[in-house]
Amino acid sequence: MKSFEEQYNEYAQAFESALKEYCAKMNYCPNVLTESMRYSLLLGGKRVRPVLFLSALDLFGLNWKNELDIAIAIEMIHTYSLIHDDLPAMDNDDFRRGKPSSHKAFGEANAILAGDALLNTAYSILFAASARGEKYLRAARYLCDAAGADGMIAGQSADLLYSGAQDAGAAELEFIYERKTGKLISAPLVMASVLADKYYFEMERFGEALGLLFQMTDDILDEKGDGAAVGKTLGKDKAENKLTSVKVYGLHASELQCDLLAEKCYGILEGFSENAAFFCGFVDFVRKRNK
Ligand code: IPE
Ligand code: IPE
Ligand code: MG
Ligand code: MG
Ligand code: MG
Repeated sequence: MKSFEEQYNEYAQAFESALKEYCAKMNYCPNVLTESMRYSLLLGGKRVRPVLFLSALDLFGLNWKNELDIAIAIEMIHTYSLIHDDLPAMDNDDFRRGKPSSHKAFGEANAILAGDALLNTAYSILFAASARGEKYLRAARYLCDAAGADGMIAGQSADLLYSGAQDAGAAELEFIYERKTGKLISAPLVMASVLADKYYFEMERFGEALGLLFQMTDDILDEKGDGAAVGKTLGKDKAENKLTSVKVYGLHASELQCDLLAEKCYGILEGFSENAAFFCGFVDFVRKRNK
């Protein structure tokens, strides 16, 4: 039996080859647009969302290698969100995935446009995939909503609104977490269940808990991680007075909450009759991650 790492790498490598191939074919004019889109897509990153999507398809017995285009669309939307998140008007972060962030490499205006272009290209891929059937249309709609004004963008808006706010606490933090991160973590899982036509609510619940765990570990890493491993400037949340779990609960209580969230994830996975060992490994990986 393959280890968790072996299985993760199999999905991630298949995704990486498909993405490289896609990027090699991109030929937008002016060239700076193509270059800036490629730059952020190929910088690396853990590829968590594509791997969740592909592994969930695999769990449900679907041929995940047939759906790599949708995995690319998912990662494009995530990458656009990171480019915009790093902009001076938002988090003002100069490093991403261990390299200069998009606005540092290409200037602010080009970074805005690279993000816009990635988002639109993602939707173009999703529209094309929708020709494969009605389920694909539903999966695309799910991703669109998860990324949109009641999803990731709402979370980002609240993240900015509550930075430095005196009267914001646990409820506002939950609102931010569920949307800015949770939505794009649960979307790939739910999309797979839409395509497989099973476990919709279980996947949604699992994705929500995993998304909270993912952002809580992100906040903890910002406080006490290793900058070289994380590939971002650390300590930024405190400097910008962001509403994070570390701010609301403190480091120790945040760690305990992570353990509780991990337990919640394992509990939900017990409800699957398929062998969900890979997903248990995933929860473990997120809980213990150092990047
Ligand atoms: C970073 O996401 C932004 C958050 C939602 C916390 P990832 O930690 O998945 O970033 P990459 O894709 O691996 O760079
Ligand atoms: C970002 O949250 C979430 C999105 C990009 C949607 P953070 O601002 O905490 O992510 P990092 O720490 O910059 O990766
Ligand atoms: Mg942010
Ligand atoms: Mg940020
Ligand atoms: Mg962060």
